[in-house]
Amino acid sequence: MVGRLSSESSQPVSRYHVKSFGCQMNVYDSERMGDLLAADGHVAVDSADAADIVVLNTCHIREKAAEKLYSDIGRLKKPRADGSRPVIVAAGCVAQAEGAEIGRRAPAVDVIVGPLAYHNLPALLREAAAIPADARGARWGRAIDTDMPASPKFDHLPARRHQGASAFLTVQEGCDKFCTFCVVPYTRGGEVSRPFADLVREAETLVAAGAVEITLIGQNVNAYGLELGGGATLPALIAELAQLEGLKRIRYTTSHPRDMTRALIDAHAEIPKLMPYLHLPVQSGSSRILKAMNRAHTRESYLATLAELRAARPDIALSGDFIVGFPGETEADFADTLRIVSEVGYAQAYSFKYSQRPGTPAATMADQVPEAVKEERLARLQAAITAGAHAFNLASVGRHTEILLERPGRKPGQLIGKTPWLQSAVVSVTGAKIGDLIAVEITEGQPNSVEARPVDRAPSLPAERAAA
Ligand code: SAH
Ligand code: SF4
Ligand code: F3S
Repeated sequence: MVGRLSSESSQPVSRYHVKSFGCQMNVYDSERMGDLLAADGHVAVDSADAADIVVLNTCHIREKAAEKLYSDIGRLKKPRADGSRPVIVAAGCVAQAEGAEIGRRAPAVDVIVGPLAYHNLPALLREAAAIPADARGARWGRAIDTDMPASPKFDHLPARRHQGASAFLTVQEGCDKFCTFCVVPYTRGGEVSRPFADLVREAETLVAAGAVEITLIGQNVNAYGLELGGGATLPALIAELAQLEGLKRIRYTTSHPRDMTRALIDAHAEIPKLMPYLHLPVQSGSSRILKAMNRAHTRESYLATLAELRAARPDIALSGDFIVGFPGETEADFADTLRIVSEVGYAQAYSFKYSQRPGTPAATMADQVPEAVKEERLARLQAAITAGAHAFNLASVGRHTEILLERPGRKPGQLIGKTPWLQSAVVSVTGAKIGDLIAVEITEGQPNSVEARPVDRAPSLPAERAAA
């Protein structure tokens, strides 16, 4: 095992571990960095403590998320029992946003690589290995790549090794929307869609390897192809992938309300493999705050979009993201947010306290909301969201459907799967394994999950839709 940085420029063969923070895009990227390291001869291990190379794939979306990088580096740089320490790679959105600051604050970091440049990771590791260890920290000698190249990294990645019933597939990256609170346009660059044929090929590879569910992902997944102006849009891609025989379920996330096109809404009515679930973040229920956020939708236009979706697919389950305490948010604005939660009836939702992000317009806006007010509003919002989710789960009791088994449950004989509406369903079952789609009846609704029992067969999804 070579693994440690050495003055040799030979190829180190090491055990690697990739730790993923943040969104699904990072989960996908972490898997792809693993593909690159494996193709380079390295071997995956489950724990950072057992690894010679530790990749921290970071998230910059909120201050707390970004700080996790530094606490992990603090732990990793401490010498182990044998006096060694792992090669530390800072990857992801913190690396992109504050690469130079990482260099200053954390000299122990050996490689800094941004989310658009990680196809160069093996070369960067070789570069870092060639620098004498005692020079690091004394000069800017570590290997760093935070370029945002015009030629997308996807063209330079090895074949996917994904195993498992459910897989992510990145279809577009980046964001041009510049919501005033958000770092993503700065960390991931502008919107870029991957070529249609490449995606169909990658999906075929995943299905051949056993995937029965594919979730198409992107920072603005429903903007897929729109910048190209042709027919290669998200609904066209979903329709194409629905032809793959082994593929049973298609999902997509995250969508922006502005890009919910008629054709995409229609896809929910027309394509049974497209699951009846949509994550459509609204951020605030107040049109005044939405304007200050530069969201390009209002409370009314958002609700109108949901009405169209429900007309197309009456049983669709909705999810969203909310920010509380955006600068200038009054109690009346916040009341509008609480109201939209009960009006929409979300199946689930995520809520966050506004976090001031360096370089974003909202960070320097007047009327920043005190922390205590944010805390208090977040607690009220989360109570409303949990109550809504519980109501949704209770309302699904009695439904006959299918679940995709994903992981073992807490008790022996229990497995946990996902319903079409993305509820976690706990089932006691024999003769079924992770990766199977089994027919169940939902028997109980909890705040964050449902219980189910196996039944002989589920009605097909279109019939179920007719009954909904
Ligand atoms: N592209 C998606 C969101 C990606 S970021 C969209 O437009 O909806 C994921 C979520 O993080 C956002 O929906 C938002 O709710 C939250 N978020 C982003 N920036 C934030 C900030 N500065 N403070 C708190 N939450 C934030
Ligand atoms: Fe961020 Fe807004 Fe882009 Fe979503 S749409 S990634 S919130 S800037
Ligand atoms: Fe975080 Fe970057 Fe995703 S900031 S949410 S990891 S795009």
